[in-house]
Amino acid sequence: MMEAISWYIEAIAILFWVVVGFVLMAAIVIGILDRLQKADAIRRNYPVIGRFRGLFTSLGEFFRQYFFAMDREELPFNRAQRDWVKEASDGTSNTRAFGSTRNISVVGTSIFTPAPFPPLDDMYAATEPLVIGPGARQPYHAPSFFNISGMSYGALSRPAVRALSRGAKLGGFWLNTGEGGLSPYHLEGGADIVFQIGTAKYGVRDADGRLSDEKLTEIAAHPQVRMFELKLAQGAKPGKGGILPGAKVTEEIARIRGIPVGESSISPNRHPEVASNAQLLDLIGHIRRVTGKPVGIKTVMGLEESFGALFEEIRQRGIESAPDFITLDGGEGGTGASPMPLMDLVGVSIRESLPVLADLRDRAGLKDRIRIIASGKLINPGDVAWALAAGADFITSARGFMFALGCIQAMKCNRNTCPTGITTHDPRFQAGLVVEDKDKRVAQYGQAIIREVETIAHSVGVSEPRKLTRSHVRIVQSDGSSVAMSQMFPSIAPSATHS
Ligand SMILES: Cc1cc2nc3c(=O)[nH]c(=O)nc-3n(C[C@H](O)[C@H](O)[C@H](O)COP(=O)(O)O)c2cc1C
Repeated sequence: MMEAISWYIEAIAILFWVVVGFVLMAAIVIGILDRLQKADAIRRNYPVIGRFRGLFTSLGEFFRQYFFAMDREELPFNRAQRDWVKEASDGTSNTRAFGSTRNISVVGTSIFTPAPFPPLDDMYAATEPLVIGPGARQPYHAPSFFNISGMSYGALSRPAVRALSRGAKLGGFWLNTGEGGLSPYHLEGGADIVFQIGTAKYGVRDADGRLSDEKLTEIAAHPQVRMFELKLAQGAKPGKGGILPGAKVTEEIARIRGIPVGESSISPNRHPEVASNAQLLDLIGHIRRVTGKPVGIKTVMGLEESFGALFEEIRQRGIESAPDFITLDGGEGGTGASPMPLMDLVGVSIRESLPVLADLRDRAGLKDRIRIIASGKLINPGDVAWALAAGADFITSARGFMFALGCIQAMKCNRNTCPTGITTHDPRFQAGLVVEDKDKRVAQYGQAIIREVETIAHSVGVSEPRKLTRSHVRIVQSDGSSVAMSQMFPSIAPSATHS
């Protein structure tokens, strides 16, 4: 017995020294390789231990998110914002005890002004549908002011698009296809669809990449397709096109987008045939004539004069030439992939550009003609209520609905390794996204936004969320005081009433 025990101890000791020897050998080899390599100065000067810097830097991202970052300090979305979406998507109660954890003296915070005598509860501020494109052969009576922003099938996985489509139908929102064409998965749930026409005209192009009236007519024939959105730019990458590598052009993607299988496909950085406001209005009018449905544009603000010039062109041509809507994306908008300088530095924030655009539109006498759809980190009720008060008629969100699908902000949308299956085509990760569960979460999230914006509107004393005005919002300034938004951006729209 004793002999067996000492044999075991001896064997473990030998194993221990073998492992130590192996680790030392590996360290020496790695150390020599580190010293000889020329690309990394830290590893060259501090062989072996220099490698821990890279390891800790990448692990730091996870440790900060889970353990160290405070509830309201992460970007692009902090934990408080994400948790709100998660609870709204769960469909759990939105009541909290004891008091707010929000610091309301942070510069830029919106504070809504309660009515002295709010309407009684039976006068709840419920949302009414709003018509878009009254002059089109088939105007769209949009039921919801909160909807799903454009994200292509391709940038999103199949189960993600399916869950959004079914969730949009359950919740009564529209679903924008993004620029990758109309897939069967967009149509699956039966929701209203906004078909986006990107610069490569995916889904509505001829063999040479030009807009095809035949394809446009085919897409417009789907009763679910309610509107067409001509994408000029998006906030995260204004003026940037893209290349879809041949490896990603599967038979299915090729069929949906109208491009050859296995060949790389280029999206130009703008529509080649649109180099002026006149050409833009020509193209909008053409698409509206061919499809019979409302047509708008999506862009991000640079110079405000550009919108002034567009409205002047409309004035000269006549009000019927106007786009039926303008989707204004903020510079803070999201993307599947974009160069960092464009994402970080190009394009005005929605907080600044939305009131400016609304004023330019209203001054041009186009308030009832052109609807404004706003997007850019408007994912919680306060942000959405702010946007309505600032002048938006509708709000769309991409990343809010991604959070509803289970996104954990891993920031890997461009790497095919999205751990929640939302932006990856790897079936291993997609298996985590169960369409029959996530569709309900999508619906519950959007409906919670609508309900809570209606709650704010009711407290403020208006009968409908779109009656929120800039006089109902105060913005916190750097000295801690708050100033009415109507004073910061005096609009020509009617001033606030509490009725
Ligand atoms: C994964 C992903 C894909 C997107 N694809 C498109 C697209 O195809 N076309 C487009 O106009 N915008 C696209 N966007 C931008 C969004 O539609 C939206 O304008 C922007 O993210 C702002 O909304 P958010 O802050 O609620 O995400 C995409 C965004 C994300 C996150």
